Amino acid sequence: MSNQIDELLAASIGSGGLRPEQIEQILRFRLLGNRQGFLLLEDLPIGRIPPTPVSRAELNKEDDRSERLLLQATILLGEPIGYIQESGGSIVNNFFPQRALSGSATSDSFDNELDLHTENAFHAIQPDYLVLLCLRQDPAAEATTYVSSVDAILERLDHDEIAWFLNEPYNFLSDYCLTEKNCRLDIDKHQPVLYGDPDAPFFRFDPQFMVARSEEAQARLNHLRSIAWEVTEPVRLAPGSLLIIDNRRTAHARSPFTARFDGNDRWMQRAFAICNPKHYTERLGKRTRVFELVAQL
Ligand SMILES: [Fe+2]
Repeated sequence: MSNQIDELLAASIGSGGLRPEQIEQILRFRLLGNRQGFLLLEDLPIGRIPPTPVSRAELNKEDDRSERLLLQATILLGEPIGYIQESGGSIVNNFFPQRALSGSATSDSFDNELDLHTENAFHAIQPDYLVLLCLRQDPAAEATTYVSSVDAILERLDHDEIAWFLNEPYNFLSDYCLTEKNCRLDIDKHQPVLYGDPDAPFFRFDPQFMVARSEEAQARLNHLRSIAWEVTEPVRLAPGSLLIIDNRRTAHARSPFTARFDGNDRWMQRAFAICNPKHYTERLGKRTRVFELVAQL
């Protein structure tokens, strides 16, 4: 399995389909960032896309051009990784509505990403970037992705509020269990929303999974959530749209959309990149591309 992935990763470097100027854009985004905290590339080559499956068991995609494209972009940003709890540790995660799961809040359902959140904010090995590739838009073209960047949020906070969020620890619950998602596990992960350089802080935010330790802390969190929603940038993804999100400086969400289960539903692929794999290898005493739940390092 890991050999197969290594082969696909190696192939992606030389034949991912990105043009030189797109590679340049991605490298510039990684090095310098931007105010909005994301980079959108459109009309990229994704190859032949079969009908959208309606269950994991039916997932069978022969043309791997979209996987190579996704992974080429991911490799430019860092080290591609997976989590045991996301599609059994797959480096490429596929998302499409599944009839069996619709309505319930699971990783595969199509209505779970509705509130703003930083991906895996509870995890000691948090992804630095998310890379999302749209294979097929939802038939009614309702789905909208939203990104809120810390730069835009900070402009709406006064000095005291910034100091609060740099210092106040919130308990970030894990939505990973040991092998699956959709838990609410207290892993004793008390950490502030803003961190890093106080003059240009990073941002982690997941209000549905953050426990405040006082009424004031909860009220401030609610206020921050409404500010984060005020400054969101909506993004519409069409087939061949590649959205790179800086997961250290943003929160993201998605609107609801309708599923028909007829092969024409929305289909997204996602990969994660981390930027300091050797540091994690040192801390864990183990080299891996697929991580378990790690609470503290
Ligand atoms: Fe997400």
